Amino acid sequence: MSFSVKDIPTKPYEGQKPGTSGLRKRVKVFQQEHYTENFVQAIFDSIDAKDQTIVIGGDGRYFSPEAVQIILKIGSANGVKRFIIGKDGILSTPAASNIIRKYKAYGGILLTASHNPGGPNNDFGIKYNVSNGGPAPEGVTDKIYEKTKTISSYKVLEAPEVDLSTIGETKYGPSEVAIIDSVADYTILLEEIFDFPLIKEFLESHKDDFPILFDGLNGVTGPYARAIFVDTFGLPESSIQNCVPLPDFGGGHPDPNLTYAHTLVEKVEADNIPFGAASDGDGDRNMIYGKGAFVTPSDSVAIIAHWADVIPYFKKGGVKGLARSMPTSKAIDLVAQKKGLEYFEVPTGWKFFGNLMDAGRLSICGEESFGTGSDHIREKDGLWAVVAWLNIIAAANKKSPNKLVGINDILNEFYSIYGRSFFSRYDYEEVPSDGANALVKNLNDALASGSLNETKHTAGKDNFVVSSIYNFEYKDPIDHSISKNQGQVITFSDGSRVVFRLSGTGSQGATVRMYVERYLPPSASPEELARPAAEGLQSLIDVALEISKLKAYLGVDKPTVIT
Ligand code: G6P
Ligand code: ZN
Repeated sequence: MSFSVKDIPTKPYEGQKPGTSGLRKRVKVFQQEHYTENFVQAIFDSIDAKDQTIVIGGDGRYFSPEAVQIILKIGSANGVKRFIIGKDGILSTPAASNIIRKYKAYGGILLTASHNPGGPNNDFGIKYNVSNGGPAPEGVTDKIYEKTKTISSYKVLEAPEVDLSTIGETKYGPSEVAIIDSVADYTILLEEIFDFPLIKEFLESHKDDFPILFDGLNGVTGPYARAIFVDTFGLPESSIQNCVPLPDFGGGHPDPNLTYAHTLVEKVEADNIPFGAASDGDGDRNMIYGKGAFVTPSDSVAIIAHWADVIPYFKKGGVKGLARSMPTSKAIDLVAQKKGLEYFEVPTGWKFFGNLMDAGRLSICGEESFGTGSDHIREKDGLWAVVAWLNIIAAANKKSPNKLVGINDILNEFYSIYGRSFFSRYDYEEVPSDGANALVKNLNDALASGSLNETKHTAGKDNFVVSSIYNFEYKDPIDHSISKNQGQVITFSDGSRVVFRLSGTGSQGATVRMYVERYLPPSASPEELARPAAEGLQSLIDVALEISKLKAYLGVDKPTVIT
């Protein structure tokens, strides 16, 4: 049978450069004539997907159904043999990573702008992932960008639209299309990793004194959470909220932090819920938050590493190594040292973990930006982290039959063994780029001249002496590539640390992030160790602001978000 493939003439659009997480723009930008088509053709021009399988799915945000049909038309015309698509075009980012790996696909196209708001006036995104299930490396994204600059036509298959709502196999011109259940493979994956019977038994027997709440923030994780918490663990409907994916996320900002996940925070507080959690629009971020208990992501990953033995996946396969991004607190390093494991400090961005995982040197890793995960896939994984916490709590309670162990007990026990790395991040969003660059230059000048070295700074009753200042640089141990200028780090003689970094994901002006970390050894009193982070860090924050002259450079008094 012959199929009609048409060449459509087009002209390049400027600015189709994919960032770490693909091409992210306003929906209105993607809706311009040929804009999405150009970018999709540039992807197929940069990879060799002829006769191969490509996965398509996303967080279901506004413009997703249209984008899936465009990818089908162009992909098929470019020779793709088989498409695997989540029903209704839905696949969380971790689920898509799993599908690519499980079905040995050549790659996948993920339609998401992660935690950015959605809807006709907000963001859309297209991200390409390679065969290991992880985001395309820079070599590939650079190639895609180059192609977008010279594109003069794209190919389309002339065929009616595919019905994305019916699970099953169909023919599509010369290609096959499999519409799959978006959730089933992911649920199987988590079931293989965690001790589901133990978690289920614990949650069932503590229905009354340990109710849980998961908030999907109207993002993609809703159906996954329902399958796991309601259908598998048998929890009541009240244990999930905002779990129907909406194209505009209900008008909210689907980012699991204390500011944006306020629906979770309010309900946990009002109903005294001991364990709550939320995930972002595409399901790769997570926040663990119970009544009176917030788990900072830096502690979360360290605690999961500490308790790895109660998780069947790690008990069976062992823990090969641990890692964190540079601004993330050093809590996980202490776990690695105690367990005699190799550990790594990489620049911000999940892509830096992939090589280490593929080389069999990394099992558990995380970032302060609410990303936690392991080598079960090549993306961070929100629900994985939530179920990991439930597995840990269930195991801890099995060891302690007479006293209910909750989030704070797990935290306090961890601090009593390793000490505590108090950690906080101040975000100064959408500040003038000139001011942000001047702030960085001032730190670089101090680095070059040594003018800050050994200087003493006092705030309240605390003194801090600067011991070093450096610009973080990373050499990938596997491919030896070098990433420079990854943030300015100031260390103090008591082991405290302040990091300044410009965000790589903002869309307007510049965003400056200031990360502060102060370590208290396990010998400190339990009261000191259990203090609210803001209190434990106040003097260091004052010193960081003074040294950097941040307020003067940025012309602002307060951060926009504190986590
Ligand atoms: C994305 C990446 C994360 C990274 C974050 C940093 O979410 O997936 O791996 O930590 O961006 O964002 P920033 O705005 O600080 O550059
Ligand atoms: Zn995300």
